[in-house]
Amino acid sequence: MSDRKPTAPNDLSAFWMPFTANRQFKKSPRMFVAAEGMHYTTAEGRKVLDGTAGLWCCNAGHKRPKIVEAIQQQAAELDYAPAFQMGHPKAFELANRLVGIAPEPMEHVFFTNSGSESVETALKIAIAYHRARGDASRTRLIGRERGYHGVNFGGISVGGIVNNRKHFGALLTGVDHLPHTHIPENQFTRGQPEHGATLADDLERICALHDPSTIAAVIVEPMAGSTGVLIPPKGYLQRLRDICSKHGILLIFDEVITGFGRIGGAFAAETFDVMPDMITCAKGLTNGVIPMGAVLTTADIHDAFMTGPENLIELFHGYTYSGNPIASAAGIATLETYAEEGLFDRAHDLGQYWEDAVHSLRGLPHVIDCRNLGLIAGIELEPMAGKPTARAFEAFLRCYDKGVLIRTTGDIIALSPPLIIEKSHIDELFGTIADVLKDLP
Ligand SMILES: Cc1ncc(COP(=O)(O)O)c(C=O)c1O
Repeated sequence: MSDRKPTAPNDLSAFWMPFTANRQFKKSPRMFVAAEGMHYTTAEGRKVLDGTAGLWCCNAGHKRPKIVEAIQQQAAELDYAPAFQMGHPKAFELANRLVGIAPEPMEHVFFTNSGSESVETALKIAIAYHRARGDASRTRLIGRERGYHGVNFGGISVGGIVNNRKHFGALLTGVDHLPHTHIPENQFTRGQPEHGATLADDLERICALHDPSTIAAVIVEPMAGSTGVLIPPKGYLQRLRDICSKHGILLIFDEVITGFGRIGGAFAAETFDVMPDMITCAKGLTNGVIPMGAVLTTADIHDAFMTGPENLIELFHGYTYSGNPIASAAGIATLETYAEEGLFDRAHDLGQYWEDAVHSLRGLPHVIDCRNLGLIAGIELEPMAGKPTARAFEAFLRCYDKGVLIRTTGDIIALSPPLIIEKSHIDELFGTIADVLKDLP
């Protein structure tokens, strides 16, 4: 056996961790071993306040009884059913419930296992939809600078985060990008910024360049999360919608983060009152407990495929675990938990308190911007000279040592707590961050 083979069950070398500085982590691991409500428990037995809902996903908090029971029962009843040419009741029930809470035009659900897969699915449906309607020249996909749409090839092609793209070759062809909306005029804005709606007009330039008849879809996050919380300027999303409609281009909202109450309501489309043609989601769909994602579509898109002989498969796409029984049961229990506890109202009810707490950090050392929407915050720090990301990461480590989990992306602190958060937790979260910022190098 090579001396690189693990020698003990708790050897850390075999697991190649995702989006992690592996060598640094393994020298000084941060391990969670339990979670309940708003808190994680570390391997050392310390409680850590969850300021990020895991990875923007545990919107109902942790170890929620209904979800735990649903998973246990489903595993004991029907563990797996083939996803192709067979069905099981829970997947249909969850699809119906999702349509029930989704904005009016969304009538159909295609299940996936992650946000990345939801994005790939939506992009493929967009291209295949145009073809099904006899408009096969519409194949181009338009994303946005700084956009995050997961890590698969379609997603990183339409995405706009440089590090996620530059290592992986030429990516998909036929992709173009809108400019991002993060402009200096909007610093320290509370809620949606005033400036920047006209950035959407760049889509007209892209249409003029490629001709709209070649463009299948535009995909954007209604609020860009993973790139560091970029909140859409007032009027921006509607402008995108109008230009897409004018040119027959589908608009996809990637709501993997904004779905399920994060900014109030079930989906951001409803909160912003701008309707896309497809919505991608994941994360909060099962409270992050079991991998699952979904693409919601209009009847127009779905029905375009429902032609030809009825014995033929209409869409050559799907995953072994699409609508998996245990994930479906978790999804139903999650949606019930959200409804029973009124969690989609929390972002609204706590919004002002949250906003004031976010902006209380203005004026502290290194803070060059604070922004907020719903129960989301972005706190941007001045990068250390010659060491981008180092300052925010140091803040992350110090907060963790002080019992608070935050997330950083570049030099931006991104916060997105479970929607069950109480005011006392908000005080603790921002009090700890303030203390850390005061001493940060
Ligand atoms: C907007 C958006 N799309 C897609 C994804 C990818 O989701 P996953 O990590 O489940 O593949 C994410 C993850 O953060 C996201 O924020």
